[in-house]
Amino acid sequence: MVARTVDLRSDTVTKPTEAMRAAMANAEVDDDVLGYDPTARRLELEVARIAGKEAALFVPSGTMGNLISVLTHCQVRGSEIILGDSSHIHIYENGGISTIGGVHPRTVKNNDDGTMDIELIEAAIRDPSFEICFPTTRLICLENSHAHSGGRCLSPEYVDRVGELAKKYGLKLHIDGARIFNASVALGVPVQRLVQAADSVSICLSKGLGAPVGSVIVGSESFIAKAKILRKTLGGGMRQVGVLCAAAYIALQENVGKLEGDHKRAKTLAEGLNKIKGLKVDLDSVQTNIVYCDILESVNITETKLCKMLEGYGILVLPEGPLRIRFVIHHQISDSDVQHSLSCIQLAVNGAPNKK
Ligand SMILES: Cc1ncc(COP(=O)(O)O)c(C=O)c1O
Repeated sequence: MVARTVDLRSDTVTKPTEAMRAAMANAEVDDDVLGYDPTARRLELEVARIAGKEAALFVPSGTMGNLISVLTHCQVRGSEIILGDSSHIHIYENGGISTIGGVHPRTVKNNDDGTMDIELIEAAIRDPSFEICFPTTRLICLENSHAHSGGRCLSPEYVDRVGELAKKYGLKLHIDGARIFNASVALGVPVQRLVQAADSVSICLSKGLGAPVGSVIVGSESFIAKAKILRKTLGGGMRQVGVLCAAAYIALQENVGKLEGDHKRAKTLAEGLNKIKGLKVDLDSVQTNIVYCDILESVNITETKLCKMLEGYGILVLPEGPLRIRFVIHHQISDSDVQHSLSCIQLAVNGAPNKK
């Protein structure tokens, strides 16, 4: 038994706060499939307002938010979308756009900062005059912040340029904004401005904002009307869903203001890790709440072994590929948790015999 556990596996591991639990217990609810749940309505209106879009729809998860958005834009089977080769939609969502939606992914290389080169995106757009062979490009997807690049942020100028490109070719632009609030806080740019060029955005409330469940997709009235039908098709229409939306609303009210502190703690953790012999963090990559840490070959510990060793100290982290582990900060991690974790990591990496 360890005396203290610090859970840095993900920002999805947070526990609902007392305020969230109270809001859930007291939520005013009705049948949301029929469109009558007032607490769901209130949350959707608020997220639509923050994102500067006409309408919004609560969905059970970020994965379903992305899937519904892609399929709403690509109603013809065999449509093609352009997305980053390390995007969450491409790597971590079971290929749902293909298996469920008949949508073909065309990947473009993600740069280290989460962008894709505009020229490469343009080159990936299919020439409609050869539709006898080519699938039809219908959508470009971006991710902000970009998880696989360590939570780096796409600037509004970059998103605008992709938006202009999409317009030029008659395509739609979707943003996987699972952590758009982290990007907004890190860049000091309102969410509304960051997603101005997008036709749809999927926003997670159960990541950095700490809600127990749920995402919201935003877009035009007509986009959301179609999305609502698809949500039902996929089994994501829920009845007295206000119980969940009540907690998500609290997350939105109380936790956006805490993200700046999360980002500061992520920086402190990254700087501390960099001082531990055998570990290396690219400090420039730490813009939000995610820290990727490389294990140098000289210490002779694999990423799985190090995660196991840290677990023994009560420090929970996840492997992120060969000789790399990841730490994610969230609102239930304190300054003292960060310092305690650094001491334990120091012991695990440099203090233990028989490291292999
Ligand atoms: C960037 C990004 N998009 C989408 C998702 C999917 O969210 P969910 O786990 O709610 O399905 C995640 C989950 O971690 C994510 O990191």
